[in-house]
Amino acid sequence: MAIQDDQMKLDIAHVWDISSETYDDKEGHGIHSEIEREAWKNLFRSLLPPGRLEVLDVGCGTGEVGLLFAELGHHVTGLDLSEKMLAKAREKTSGKKYDITFRAGDAEDPPFETGTFDVVVTRHLLWTLPHPDTAVRNWKKVLREGGVLIVIDGLYNGGLIERKTRQFISDFLTLLVERRYPGRRQYPDEIKNELPNPNGVPPKKTIEYFRKAGFKNVKDLDLREIARIQKEKMSFRKRIVFKPQSHLIYGDKVSKKP
Ligand SMILES: C[S@@+](CC[C@H](N)C(=O)[O-])C[C@H]1O[C@@H](n2cnc3c(N)ncnc32)[C@H](O)[C@@H]1O
Repeated sequence: MAIQDDQMKLDIAHVWDISSETYDDKEGHGIHSEIEREAWKNLFRSLLPPGRLEVLDVGCGTGEVGLLFAELGHHVTGLDLSEKMLAKAREKTSGKKYDITFRAGDAEDPPFETGTFDVVVTRHLLWTLPHPDTAVRNWKKVLREGGVLIVIDGLYNGGLIERKTRQFISDFLTLLVERRYPGRRQYPDEIKNELPNPNGVPPKKTIEYFRKAGFKNVKDLDLREIARIQKEKMSFRKRIVFKPQSHLIYGDKVSKKP
């Protein structure tokens, strides 16, 4: 039987509530070096329109990406379903002078007026949405004309034999070296079966969502340099099985006026 949308989102929030305690420990989640922070900021800077911008970080989690935009001097709103992820994000930014606020809400239907933001950014969220196409359309709505959408996602799990083999080797080495089984955050089948991209979103598909929603100048940007920096911080057993998978897809909401 299909799980109801509202129940599914509660279940998804619960998974991330549990994950919140250790989420930032993993490379690719938490940003673990100044060099990586600078690399992300340089990349974002190169994509943004001039001036002080209103930024929405959808599915913000512990706030890592939103914080980069705040450090660049922009006003940031982080939106997430998981109260515990939001608590981590608030804890991280409290007492600092950044212009950043966090609130609970559904990324598929962001609770903001049309044309509120100059930038909508999201990392590692699209794959976990039951209606990614609707989400991308709604992100376009909350953007101002001339605003930009930045989506970072990729094809992460399962599928190809090569990827499964890498995962197996990594788990085996963790077991051998750390004497523990790497408990992987897994959605139960009732959730997975309702997600169109439970193993991650191939860049081509993200581009298709952008085009269908009417974004222009859609680009697929290289994140290999950031992956290289992340790899330097990894332990040997992680490094040998690491394969960069994330892409950054960018699109403009171009003015309807001639
Ligand atoms: C893999 S984490 C990514 C967090 C953060 N964007 C990052 O890059 O570190 C996915 C996040 O999306 C949130 N999430 C999942 N579905 C959501 C939805 N429908 N609306 C808002 N947040 C959602 C989860 O609670 C979780 O914090």
